[in-house]
Amino acid sequence: MTFKIICPSIKKIWYVINRAVYTWLLFLFPVQLGRVTMTLRCWLALASVAALANGELVQVPNLQLPSTAAAHQKAVVNLFNVSYTAYKKYAWGHDELRPVTESYSDDLDGWGATVSDVLDTMWLMGFHDWFNEAVDYVATVDFSLSKTNSAVSVFETTIRHVGGLLSAYELSGQSKSYSVLVTKAEQVAQQMAYAFVGNNAIPYGNVNFADHTPVSGLSSIATAGTLTLEWNRLSLYTGNDTYRQLAEKSVQHVISTPNVLPGMPAELIDPSTGNPSGTYVSWGSGCDSYYEYLIKYPRLTNTDDNSYTNAWLTAVDTSIKTLLKYSTVGNWAYLADYDGKNILHVGSHLACFYGGNWILGGKLTNNDTIFNLGLQLTDACWNTYASTATGIGPEGFAYISSDGSYTGNSPPTPDQLLFYNKHGYYITASDYIMRPEVLESNFYAWRATGNTKYLDNAVSAIQSFQQYLPTTVAYTSINDVDNKTSSKIDDMPSFWFGEVLKYLYLTFDDPNNISLDNYVFNTECHPFKAPTAKNIYGSVA
Ligand SMILES: *[C@@H]1O[C@H](CO)[C@@H](O)[C@H](O)[C@H]1NC(C)=O
Ligand SMILES: *[C@@H]1O[C@H](CO)[C@@H](O)[C@H](O)[C@H]1NC(C)=O
Ligand SMILES: *[C@@H]1O[C@H](CO)[C@@H](O)[C@H](O)[C@H]1NC(C)=O
Ligand SMILES: *[C@@H]1O[C@H](CO)[C@@H](O)[C@H](O)[C@H]1NC(C)=O
Ligand SMILES: *[C@@H]1O[C@H](CO)[C@@H](O)[C@H](O)[C@H]1NC(C)=O
Repeated sequence: MTFKIICPSIKKIWYVINRAVYTWLLFLFPVQLGRVTMTLRCWLALASVAALANGELVQVPNLQLPSTAAAHQKAVVNLFNVSYTAYKKYAWGHDELRPVTESYSDDLDGWGATVSDVLDTMWLMGFHDWFNEAVDYVATVDFSLSKTNSAVSVFETTIRHVGGLLSAYELSGQSKSYSVLVTKAEQVAQQMAYAFVGNNAIPYGNVNFADHTPVSGLSSIATAGTLTLEWNRLSLYTGNDTYRQLAEKSVQHVISTPNVLPGMPAELIDPSTGNPSGTYVSWGSGCDSYYEYLIKYPRLTNTDDNSYTNAWLTAVDTSIKTLLKYSTVGNWAYLADYDGKNILHVGSHLACFYGGNWILGGKLTNNDTIFNLGLQLTDACWNTYASTATGIGPEGFAYISSDGSYTGNSPPTPDQLLFYNKHGYYITASDYIMRPEVLESNFYAWRATGNTKYLDNAVSAIQSFQQYLPTTVAYTSINDVDNKTSSKIDDMPSFWFGEVLKYLYLTFDDPNNISLDNYVFNTECHPFKAPTAKNIYGSVA
């Protein structure tokens, strides 16, 4: 505190000049430094202290884009422009565009999932008329009743609707004219709160909005652990603290649940008892964003409560000891699954967020081991793109490591082995459904290293999307990433707009704009403004 009063600009200085330079100067030239002026010495000393008091920077300071970036960013805006034009024409107000049949689907309750997911992307790209039109649409939606399903998914609704609406509200300046975004986020969350029954800590996965009853059945740690960012911001903007409390209670319960491996609980959890179910452990589907938010939530809130960071560090430590494997061909790093008995040598597009998450967490906790592993994981996930005929990565894949090739399914076929021997992984699900995770980690790697190979990766992905995903009116999912003439899947998920195109756009955007030192992204790529980082060093529990 005192430092801020004496030298109020200290934080700015710290942001401009890397702490390493100070440490180095103080170490090498103590005598010369004795001669510099009082003011400068004050700054130098305080900057070192400030560096310890504030968190580590995630991004390379003063990162510059090459001059070619603008053209690539424009190509992303074009992909967006074409996709959204088709959505408006053939699917306006519905959940998702069907780009092949030029129609729509309403599998996500019919509230226009694409509209909620696309808002912040449009704001960032400068499509302000479309943004206003979309806000006006949101204002007409009745989120208190599903239009299509008897039960509403707490997870999908939180990350797409609550996350998308509140992020758009923040980015557009929290102005009164857009306050309906908060009203609507609250309207849908009021119904989702019925997923918490009685004093239960864990929410049910689905709720019937019509009669306020949850659908019985197991929940997952991803559902229980992926509310904190969104529900915390909802409490902030509505003044109703219940949402934050419910979300924190839920993740705290998971943190203290008996583990399968240290820091890694079972994927499934029974909301009626709070007890874990089964022994499946993974960084993939059903678990993924529980781990993701353990490190993002303390960053968003600057909480003094170390339990989130410690839980994340413990899970990472266990993962390094037990789940981190390298392929026998290519030496590619991956985090295997574990079923309570066996290591499963599998990977997935979904799990590929882990590279970016370890890059972020490694920086925030000042741990180079974790940071460097994050880069290795990112590079291995990129290899799943670089190795296919289309240059786009598959949905599911598997590896062979020095300790075996068990995947829980049949062993690799001769064709898969052939592919493995060339590329160091083999494909088990060949479709691409416009997921973001590989490009998400690639974005973190660019911002945190400044290595332009990550820009090259993004350029390659843009070109592949332009070449292999077009339909007559837009772009779409495909069945086989290793077939240049693959048949198409008739769906453009809302996260194409919310995530893929936003991560690509930001990869080629001024790194000081939506900086990873000022924003925390929810798992659907909706950025929330974060305070200046405090040190969040934790320890393995
Ligand atoms: C979007 O596409 C339309 C129609 O092709 C074009 O007129 C407009 O300039 C494009 N906008 C941007 C920002 O690229
Ligand atoms: C970031 O980009 C958006 C959209 O172009 C712009 O409105 C905003 O002013 C930029 N912010 C900064 C800090 O440059
Ligand atoms: C706060 O939100 C909860 C959950 O939706 C609701 O039950 C409660 O009535 C709200 N409190 C106020 C004061 O609006
Ligand atoms: C970084 O994390 C790894 C994995 O948990 C741990 O072994 C190592 O001691 C940590 N390093 C530092 C400097 O904290
Ligand atoms: C590629 O996809 C096309 C269209 O579905 C199909 O006819 C062809 O057999 C596929 N080629 C391979 C090698 O699978």
